[in-house]
Amino acid sequence: MSETERKPRVGLGVCGGIAAYKAIEVLRMLQKAGCDVSVAMTRHATEFVKPLTFRALTGEYVIVDDYDEANPDPIAHVNFSQNIDLLLVVPATANVLAKFANGIADDFLTSTYLASTAPVLVAPAMNVSMWEKPSTQRNIELLRADNVKFAEPISGELACKTVGTGKLDDVENIAKQAFAILGIRPRSVSTGTHVDDLSNEHILVTVGGTREAIDPVRFISNHSSGKMGFALAEAARDRGAWVTCVTGSVTAEPPEGVEVVRVESAQQMLNSVMTYLSGATVFVGAAAVADYRPKIVADAKIKKTDAEELTLELERTPDILSTVSDVRNSRLIVVGFAAETNDVEAYARSKMERKRLDMIVANDVSVAGQGFGTENNSAILLTRDDRIELPLQSKREMADRILDAIIEVRANR
Ligand code: CTP
Repeated sequence: MSETERKPRVGLGVCGGIAAYKAIEVLRMLQKAGCDVSVAMTRHATEFVKPLTFRALTGEYVIVDDYDEANPDPIAHVNFSQNIDLLLVVPATANVLAKFANGIADDFLTSTYLASTAPVLVAPAMNVSMWEKPSTQRNIELLRADNVKFAEPISGELACKTVGTGKLDDVENIAKQAFAILGIRPRSVSTGTHVDDLSNEHILVTVGGTREAIDPVRFISNHSSGKMGFALAEAARDRGAWVTCVTGSVTAEPPEGVEVVRVESAQQMLNSVMTYLSGATVFVGAAAVADYRPKIVADAKIKKTDAEELTLELERTPDILSTVSDVRNSRLIVVGFAAETNDVEAYARSKMERKRLDMIVANDVSVAGQGFGTENNSAILLTRDDRIELPLQSKREMADRILDAIIEVRANR
């Protein structure tokens, strides 16, 4: 949706948690960006913030219980759910995630989730044990498979004074993710190019290196910084795409306003990619995935002995890019990277054929000042019908050229 059309409508669900007051800040950001916001609260949310606060800010009746006599709309759960472009839940408790995941609709917010066909973004906040509980993680996996988007909770000191993951994501980040879904770019978060040519795309990108465990304290990895993958994520976000980064070990910071899922090993990266793939329209394998991992991971730290040598037996890791190509649907565009030191183009072309890619970005990593950890890169971009030389330029500029080529591939489909 563009800014010239009607105002985007957001249904803001507020659940019962300490972070409920932060929903007020998110509401203000959405309104400042030109969104119409209607609020639905769970009963427990009203213990933390009064409905009157949201009523004063939105000028609308705030529904907690649609059977309440004061509710002016007798079929509110239908009207509310059918008239929104996004259902955003801040904060989302473990309880509401469980209900959403399992189709339970025992109050207004959960009935709205069930009745709505709009995209859903949830911003969970809870105690670290509740977040890590297998049942919560299972529900999260179910919701991801149902294409629910997450503004991931961050690590920090929680309301209960423990430290761990479960703190509500920064309100700005939540708002930016909402804007990305709605395809709007408020002036304050806009950077780079100002076209919305990717607003119909969900770009799934692997970023950084993987770590393959040897024992509980050691691993095999590489020098990937994640800069190229994050540059792509940032450029795609700025062009209106929804972006998910499945991120291994990185030294670069992820851009704001994109979904970041942290993983360690190639196997975990593959698992996360498979979870997100159903909603994606473009897959970019920008990660430096380890090709081999230790065949046996020691349960305890390997102690040194008198022997002068230690032999580690390695086995192949799963090839994420090839697996994605194997299961792709007809809409998905699959893009890979090739890091070569000689016969760059020939090797890259054979890699593109072997992994059945729509495009490959071939880097000559033997040239100093580009590639791993640097700000700049040069590459040859190969598609099925095109060959584009990208001279030395910033990774951010290169990201835009790669996205231009993706748009070209989409147009030729
Ligand atoms: N890739 C992947 N899963 C792997 C290995 C690689 O998804 N297990 C992806 C990378 O993200 C990249 C491309 O495949 O997009 C690189 O292909 P690969 O065949 O691994 O090339 P290199 O490791 O660069 O080189 P080579 O095969 O020549 O050793």
